Amino acid sequence: MIQTSSTFLQDSQYLDGSISLSEVISALSFALDLTEGAVQGHALRSCLLGMRIAEEAQLPSNLRSSLYYALLLKDVGCSSNATRLCQIVGGDDRAVKAGVKFEDWTKPHKPSLSTLRLLWSKVLPEAGHAARAARIVRIGVTQHKNNEEMIKLRCDRGASIVTKLGMGRSAAEAVRSLDEHWNGSGYPRRAKGEQIPLLARICAVAQHLDVFFTGRGAEAAIQTLQERSGTWFDPELVRAATSLHRRDALWDNCSANESPEDTRRAALDLDPARRQQLGATQIDLICEAFAEVVDAKSHFTFCHSIGVADAAFAIARKIGLSEDRVQMVRRAALLHDIGKLSVSNSILDKQGKLTEEEWKSVYEHPGLSRRILERVGPLQEVAVIAGEHHEKLDGTGYPNRLRAQDLSLESRIIAVADVYGSLSEDRPYRAALELDQIVSIMGKLIPYKLDSDCFDALLSAVSGQREVVALPSMYSGGHPPVSTQTRPINTARWAV
Ligand SMILES: [Fe+2]
Ligand SMILES: [Fe+2]
Repeated sequence: MIQTSSTFLQDSQYLDGSISLSEVISALSFALDLTEGAVQGHALRSCLLGMRIAEEAQLPSNLRSSLYYALLLKDVGCSSNATRLCQIVGGDDRAVKAGVKFEDWTKPHKPSLSTLRLLWSKVLPEAGHAARAARIVRIGVTQHKNNEEMIKLRCDRGASIVTKLGMGRSAAEAVRSLDEHWNGSGYPRRAKGEQIPLLARICAVAQHLDVFFTGRGAEAAIQTLQERSGTWFDPELVRAATSLHRRDALWDNCSANESPEDTRRAALDLDPARRQQLGATQIDLICEAFAEVVDAKSHFTFCHSIGVADAAFAIARKIGLSEDRVQMVRRAALLHDIGKLSVSNSILDKQGKLTEEEWKSVYEHPGLSRRILERVGPLQEVAVIAGEHHEKLDGTGYPNRLRAQDLSLESRIIAVADVYGSLSEDRPYRAALELDQIVSIMGKLIPYKLDSDCFDALLSAVSGQREVVALPSMYSGGHPPVSTQTRPINTARWAV
């Protein structure tokens, strides 16, 4: 008999589900660092730095909570421009995002030697010199337009997610204006001086400090901050940061050698509303928001996590799991691919065959999903199930080649929902498949790779919305017939 995975919860300190908003967001902020190609813990260190600067600058206490979440979530929209950036540079979006933070990208007509070096190493890495040089020239010519487009995409998306999470207008506007510059040379609105919300100005200083501190050390971080005082950054905030630096009160818990958990604990201590506990509905809302972040990474997966969650929910219900198990399965499905934020779009959107090195990056994503989610107390079980979504019953899956006896019913549900979701969507190498093709392909995976009961439950759920057609002969299970008339992209209708 297949075991459910409910035993995981028995030892959990979070048996009652109690956890604060900052514990959840601080844990999931590691996923945002991945998309930005940032050094692990970037969002948390930015939070520490920004809150210290706010204290020094005597930010009113009623704005502290908004600032705290703006700092943790400043990159929540960052996945939305990954595909576009990948198209523009013809290379690894994460590497470009990581490198460009050290550059002054406001002067496309006068690029520095280091900017040119960065472009030469990252743009069209497999092309010849002439093609690469031509692309770099084109990037220079179109840079203002591209910057505006990509930063607007990222900032609007980020602000929208922060609003959905209920963080309030101040936090959302801070995220929207993160890339504005004091002298009006930033994006997307070219806002100037105090037109830029104060919280956004603090976030901009904090992220700059962390990038340079972890990359080049404290002195370089302060020096570049001062060099850009009055151009990129609010001079008052530069003074506050410099004063903290001189008093040795800026960098505690920000060292790259610091354990990520110590940095996180220090950031949690600064949460102005740390006693505020989350209810189940709020945890669901956060899972949905981060599913959106994952899905925005590539236009091929723009509704993947949400679709897999709908399918998993329907399967779990049909199988007869209890309501709390159904809720847990749905959360795992929403977040199963969160580790995919670490995979470059040059791989995710690639039309040709992946190289061995590229496959290695893909194979790592379920393990990363697990490690990110494990940091959230009430999501321990969700973490395990998310980490197993590419395992197969016959031991041919990844990352751990688990076998049937190792895989819980909940993991099997997610695995079936994930295959169904993937086949329903366009991929770089094929169009979305029709339902009869999906059933045929999945039927060949039963019962050796995918669980037949979960597949039956899926088909039963789908059949509720479809006309009747014959099933492919490859599948010997006793599932109900389904239709091929329409493509089952929008599964939300049968999830409820
Ligand atoms: Fe996956
Ligand atoms: Fe997936």
